Amino acid sequence: MSQYPVNMAITPDVSGHFDEATNTISYIVKDPASAHCAIVDSVMDINYAAGRITYDHADALIAEIKDKGLMLDWIIETHVHADHLSAAPYIQQELGGKIGVGEKIMVVQETFGKVFNEGTEFQRDGSQFDALFRDGDTYMIGQMPCFAMSTPGHTPACMVHVMGNAAFVGDTLFMPDGGSARADFPGGDAGELYDSIQKVLALPDDMRLFMCHDYGPGGRDIKWETTVAEEKAHNIHVGGGKTREEFIKFRTERDAQLDMPKLIIPSLQVNMRAGVVPKDKDGNPMLKVPVNGL
Ligand SMILES: [Fe+2]
Repeated sequence: MSQYPVNMAITPDVSGHFDEATNTISYIVKDPASAHCAIVDSVMDINYAAGRITYDHADALIAEIKDKGLMLDWIIETHVHADHLSAAPYIQQELGGKIGVGEKIMVVQETFGKVFNEGTEFQRDGSQFDALFRDGDTYMIGQMPCFAMSTPGHTPACMVHVMGNAAFVGDTLFMPDGGSARADFPGGDAGELYDSIQKVLALPDDMRLFMCHDYGPGGRDIKWETTVAEEKAHNIHVGGGKTREEFIKFRTERDAQLDMPKLIIPSLQVNMRAGVVPKDKDGNPMLKVPVNGL
């Protein structure tokens, strides 16, 4: 814990935007001392059955930033999402900002470059992104120092981004009654996920935690904010001192029963390219479906 530059004295303004189609929460995070902000985990709308892409969710983020007169410094991806498409390039075109992801993106690109039989024009070096974060890397939103923590397990490139007293946990954790994300995608590992969750739970008790997803378990209203103390005490998968062995057994058994996310095929192809839809040999936007490839 101590190696990370935690600063609980800074309270950024956090605005959550829930996407009903994918149960994703996108965030606008504003430096309290300036008009600078970041976006965490944007969403591009897709009607996969029709092969149609639109930008209503991203447009709402853009409108809020414009209305408030903010400057966008960063467009952060906590990981390569398998259940929604990123709108990072669309937002960058409108508002600027640098697109950042964990440096282990290269591992993800290697894995899924093979799955989708990508040619040599698909670079596996993370060069589609403006910044590749390593564990402990720091960056600024206006005058607010932020840092990234490497939290592999759900995917190799997963990172938690800490901005003042707010941490954006991606799919490392869900709300206490939601537990944790699956660890069975290629490159995922339940034991690693447990270790990564312990890193998050070692942050200060009153650190605010913001989820990437919420599914309203048991029919409750959608929520996306909790604290380290709440997760430690009540998380149904790791709270109350659950051991690594207990977690691995539970997670592995649970994951074996889960279907693939509805949007995994388009999501991976787009998100491993930093949100850019791939093109066919004639330059038309085109997605592939590898049959029995996942
Ligand atoms: Fe995810």
